[in-house]
Amino acid sequence: MLELAQRMVLCALVCSIYARASCPPGCECSEAAHTVKCVSKELQTIPKGIPGYTRNLFITGNNISRIGPTCFQGLDNVTNLSLSNNRITEVESNTFADLRALRYLDLSSNQLTAIHQEGFSMHNHTLRELNLSRALYNHSAVTDLAAALRQASLGSLQGLDLSGNGLVLLPPRTFSRLGQLRRLQLSNNSLVAIHNATFWGLQRLEELDLTFNALKGVPEEGLRELDALPVASGLLLGDNPFDCTCAIEPLALWLNRSRDRVRDTEAPSCASPATMRNVTLLAAATLTLRCYQRAAGADLALQTSYVFLGLVLGLVGLVFLFVLYLNRKGIKKRVNEARDACREVWEGYHYRYEIDSDPRLSQVSSNADA
Ligand SMILES: *[C@@H]1O[C@H](CO)[C@@H](O)[C@H](O)[C@H]1NC(C)=O
Ligand SMILES: *[C@@H]1O[C@H](CO)[C@@H](O)[C@H](O)[C@H]1NC(C)=O
Ligand SMILES: *[C@@H]1O[C@H](CO)[C@@H](O)[C@H](O)[C@H]1NC(C)=O
Ligand SMILES: *[C@@H]1O[C@H](CO)[C@@H](O)[C@H](O)[C@H]1NC(C)=O
Ligand SMILES: *[C@@H]1O[C@H](CO)[C@@H](O)[C@H](O)[C@H]1NC(C)=O
Ligand SMILES: *[C@@H]1O[C@H](CO)[C@@H](O)[C@H](O)[C@H]1NC(C)=O
Ligand SMILES: *[C@@H]1O[C@H](CO)[C@@H](O)[C@H](O)[C@H]1NC(C)=O
Ligand SMILES: *[C@@H]1O[C@H](CO)[C@@H](O)[C@H](O)[C@H]1NC(C)=O
Ligand SMILES: *[C@@H]1O[C@H](CO)[C@@H](O)[C@H](O)[C@H]1NC(C)=O
Ligand SMILES: *[C@@H]1O[C@H](CO)[C@@H](O)[C@H](O)[C@H]1NC(C)=O
Repeated sequence: MLELAQRMVLCALVCSIYARASCPPGCECSEAAHTVKCVSKELQTIPKGIPGYTRNLFITGNNISRIGPTCFQGLDNVTNLSLSNNRITEVESNTFADLRALRYLDLSSNQLTAIHQEGFSMHNHTLRELNLSRALYNHSAVTDLAAALRQASLGSLQGLDLSGNGLVLLPPRTFSRLGQLRRLQLSNNSLVAIHNATFWGLQRLEELDLTFNALKGVPEEGLRELDALPVASGLLLGDNPFDCTCAIEPLALWLNRSRDRVRDTEAPSCASPATMRNVTLLAAATLTLRCYQRAAGADLALQTSYVFLGLVLGLVGLVFLFVLYLNRKGIKKRVNEARDACREVWEGYHYRYEIDSDPRLSQVSSNADA
């Protein structure tokens, strides 16, 4: 009897150890839900021994600094992988290559400074969603990112979230290999311009979110770039500091023409100059219409008036000089007369002053007066 109990305890112990061994420390595993979660456990590396049945793998809120190809071996069934909020700084070459069924990859809220050129290389075109929101340490990582996106086999990617990364400029053709992309989130960056080839290759794009950036305007080449996108009512441009001087006119008129493609047509507004603040670009379109002609006309009038004023002043000056020349003798005479008169006055004054300041002389003079 005692022996049996001992055996049972032993068995329970072994079983529990076995159960533990099948789920890595710091993680919770649910075979029924095909889910493993290792959340906020201050893990320094991706844990070993994640079970093969796992489809949803959440390793979030830890302290993992780099990830590489050895991290995810044998995880053939993982479709959803979230590595958000881990302070990851480096993605090595072929990190995700073994995840043959991966469809959703969330790397948001990390501090990537180095992404290897083959960091996002996957053997099969399976990835559908890539979340890199607030994933870059700073704008400098954009070069690495662009190279990795061009290199990777992400031909079936449908959603890419690059919001909140402090991006200032996108290298040309960053998205050239993402021919199936439908949704591109670029909101909450610091984008200042859209150039030729910024959105090159996005033949299937349906949604482009450019809100909360630093666009002061979009020049003609940028408008052509936006026109080339097949987005239908999926373009968002609000919350940019548009500068509503004359140069905004092409964008304002384009916006009025593109109401069916821009979802937040009423949102884009002027941030400067102060007199135009909060005026929508659509309203500005009517205000600044014929801005160039008017401005050019005004300029011309102003220039003409300056030239005219100059001519008149020059003429007056010439006439004045001519009059002086004609009267040169009379003037000389008058000048001499004036000088003599001055001298007499001065001498008279000087004389009186000497008399006044000398009491003796003053007496003499007063006696003489008397
Ligand atoms: C993946 O899942 C299938 C079916 O659930 C299973 O047969 C296979 O062993 C799993 N792969 C691994 C590596 O465990
Ligand atoms: C995270 O890891 C780094 C070293 O990689 C260490 O210096 C730091 O103290 C860790 N932070 C936490 C909160 O564990
Ligand atoms: C996998 O991720 C996608 C996108 O985030 C989500 O729609 C789906 O429900 C997730 N699947 C599971 C099982 O969590
Ligand atoms: C990868 O894709 C190829 C063809 O597209 C397919 O034959 C192969 O089975 C896939 N491999 C895996 C592991 O899914
Ligand atoms: C990406 O992740 C962030 C934060 O984790 C989340 O707010 C955002 O909705 C995600 N983007 C997409 C497209 O699911
Ligand atoms: C980004 O961070 C790196 C590493 O700290 C630094 O060398 C670089 O100057 C930073 N770049 C910008 C644009 O702040
Ligand atoms: C924009 O990103 C910053 C960090 O980069 C974040 O603090 C802020 O909440 C974000 N704002 C919006 C509107 O998403
Ligand atoms: C953009 O392309 C147009 C023609 O498509 C060209 O005239 C212009 O110079 C290009 N601009 C830049 C900055 O490359
Ligand atoms: C412009 O609009 C913002 C938000 O709608 C508001 O906070 C701000 O006071 C407005 N500024 C002016 C000058 O009307
Ligand atoms: C805006 O477009 C409408 C037609 O859609 C046109 O009648 C109107 O004149 C345009 N406004 C401006 C300022 O171009």
